[in-house]
Amino acid sequence: MKEVFERNPGRRYIMFGGKGGLGKTTFSAATAYWLAAQGKKVLVFSVDPQASLTDIFQKDIFGKGPVKIMENLWAQEIDADSHIRAYQEEIRKKIRDMYGLPAVPEEIESYIQAASAEPAMEESAIFDAVVDVVVKGDYDYYIYDLVPLGHALYYLSMAKVYDEWINKVTKLREDMREYEEMVSRLKREKISEQDEILQELLYIKNRINTSAGILTDKTKTAFFFVVVPEAMIIDDTQKAAKMFAQFDVPVAGYVVNRVIPRELLSQNIPEYLRRRIAMQDEHLAEVHKVFDDQVMALVPEMERDVTGLPMIEKLADVMFA
Ligand SMILES: Nc1ncnc2c1ncn2[C@@H]1O[C@H](COP(=O)(O)OP(=O)(O)OP(=O)(O)O)[C@@H](O)[C@H]1O
Ligand SMILES: [Mg+2]
Repeated sequence: MKEVFERNPGRRYIMFGGKGGLGKTTFSAATAYWLAAQGKKVLVFSVDPQASLTDIFQKDIFGKGPVKIMENLWAQEIDADSHIRAYQEEIRKKIRDMYGLPAVPEEIESYIQAASAEPAMEESAIFDAVVDVVVKGDYDYYIYDLVPLGHALYYLSMAKVYDEWINKVTKLREDMREYEEMVSRLKREKISEQDEILQELLYIKNRINTSAGILTDKTKTAFFFVVVPEAMIIDDTQKAAKMFAQFDVPVAGYVVNRVIPRELLSQNIPEYLRRRIAMQDEHLAEVHKVFDDQVMALVPEMERDVTGLPMIEKLADVMFA
């Protein structure tokens, strides 16, 4: 892993993907820790309401913006719900301002509610929050702690989802012309030539293209799959890798977690553990066969769960040895 990072200094957007509970958050934190220790300014962030960064850093960071963890290292857990509420309020305010109304008319309010019920709306709000974090460019490295695979794929296809949502809003915009004309007739005003909402949509579209460009750019982004030495996981990961390839996600390698330390074999250990190690050997051989030179590190099963900086450091020392 050390080599991978040293050889590709331009890759500043790092993601760990994989099935639930394999170690995405653990590896995100360890990578963030290691980079920060190298003197890089790092932000590790998530939109996961499960608040896993809060657990691993043992610090309440949910919805608090970037929270400093140590020298050079910040962590952030984005509160997606509050972003959705803020987004709705912004739409209401724009409508009020634009038409000089004291309140949003009921019919339009129901449009806003309907749009919010769209799953795409929630995803858009989350995506928008992530884009916000990333385009600011205050950090040397951005580490995006992803939700489990299925969901991650969903986020990564977000540019497409967002596009669809924008098309819906554009349709909404056309429907609203009716109201606009009615209001301006009442106020005896001419409809303003410049369509502010349309401008806004074009601005959003531009942001999407920029961030989708970053996400799929091999020179800027590295996506690592987390796997463990188990038959089912190896299978599922291969399938997922194929899907990710369809979204042009630049897969930078595979990191194997929970490898039982082989030093144990020279000690007096129970037969049970010997068998577990033998079983892992088989699966590890398979991992090397299918992922080949894309296997970037083997990370040991630690003596306890990985929470708190001393444990993160211990794991990072092995991962980036
Ligand atoms: N190498 C390891 N040794 C010991 N414990 C580990 C190791 N890797 C991960 N764990 C523990 O396993 C649990 C799951 O890890 P983690 O939260 O990183 O997985 P995740 O992939 O982020 O899960 P989710 O899909 O729920 O986000 C945590 O309690 C973590 O401390
Ligand atoms: Mg996690």
